[in-house]
Amino acid sequence: MPYSSDQTENSAAHASSTTEHSNGIRRPLTDTPAAHNVPHGVSGYPVLHADRLSKKVTSGERSLTILHELSLSVEAGESVAILGKSGAGKSTLLGLLAGLDTPSDGELMLFGQALSRLDEDGRAALRAGRVGFVFQNFQLLPTLSALENVMLPLELSPRAGETQTATKWLARVGLGERVDHLPKQLSGGEQQRVAVARAFVTDPELVFADEPTGNLDPDTGAQVIDLLFTLNREAGTTLILVTHDHALARRCDRCLRLDQGKLEPFVPVAASVDEGTQ
Ligand SMILES: Nc1ncnc2c1ncn2[C@@H]1O[C@H](COP(=O)(O)OP(=O)(O)OP(=O)(O)O)[C@@H](O)[C@H]1O
Ligand SMILES: [Mg+2]
Repeated sequence: MPYSSDQTENSAAHASSTTEHSNGIRRPLTDTPAAHNVPHGVSGYPVLHADRLSKKVTSGERSLTILHELSLSVEAGESVAILGKSGAGKSTLLGLLAGLDTPSDGELMLFGQALSRLDEDGRAALRAGRVGFVFQNFQLLPTLSALENVMLPLELSPRAGETQTATKWLARVGLGERVDHLPKQLSGGEQQRVAVARAFVTDPELVFADEPTGNLDPDTGAQVIDLLFTLNREAGTTLILVTHDHALARRCDRCLRLDQGKLEPFVPVAASVDEGTQ
């Protein structure tokens, strides 16, 4: 998917109309799961609500419906795995949910804001510092070092120049010795870990990761996944992960499978099953 690589800017915006829940967290009245009959998460505060999203593209003379009236609500602190066969539309969906791509139909509320009311700059401002994205193909800038790639989101936020923060994140993903390497001087798995560090460097509330362990050996993959779930647990980071790995999916609060343009509840059956080959 040809996404914009700027997943990194900032703004706080919430719906003005809210209702108090028993846990004291306020949520927009227009965004209650009951109102749309969509899955309910853990915190009571929806960070994301997709209402009947569709995505159609034209390829040559043919029209292709990738997503069809898909609804999803994800609440703060949840971890959600999205599975599905290759070509099912998982990357397309992640791009839509992050506001990097626009739907053909339907509405997406991100942090209580209707994205259809925002232009590209407005969407970027809403995401800034609050949303991290690990792209399936990494999308590292080839002329920038590992450190500079990780620092990019910080430079777009008020915390410009936090070299130490970016260095810390590279160390957390095991790349403390690779800060000056260009992407072409890094292995695929190392590039993937730079992409993970870049997604987390602003301490975002919501992280999307598109097959974040797809290029990693089992041990390194397990370390990256442990890091994702540690952050989910300690910082309350909401995680939305695309994966073919049932073992990873089983660690999430909720598993969904994308099929025929829709999401359905899914129970991963065994740690060793690769969804992509089924
Ligand atoms: N801009 C586009 N124009 C035409 N077809 C597209 C476009 N974007 C995606 N597609 C098609 O939509 C389908 C879904 O693509 P997507 O990349 O979302 O799949 P995926 O589930 O992420 O697959 P994978 O597991 O292989 O990464 C594919 O068949 C792809 O060819
Ligand atoms: Mg994909």
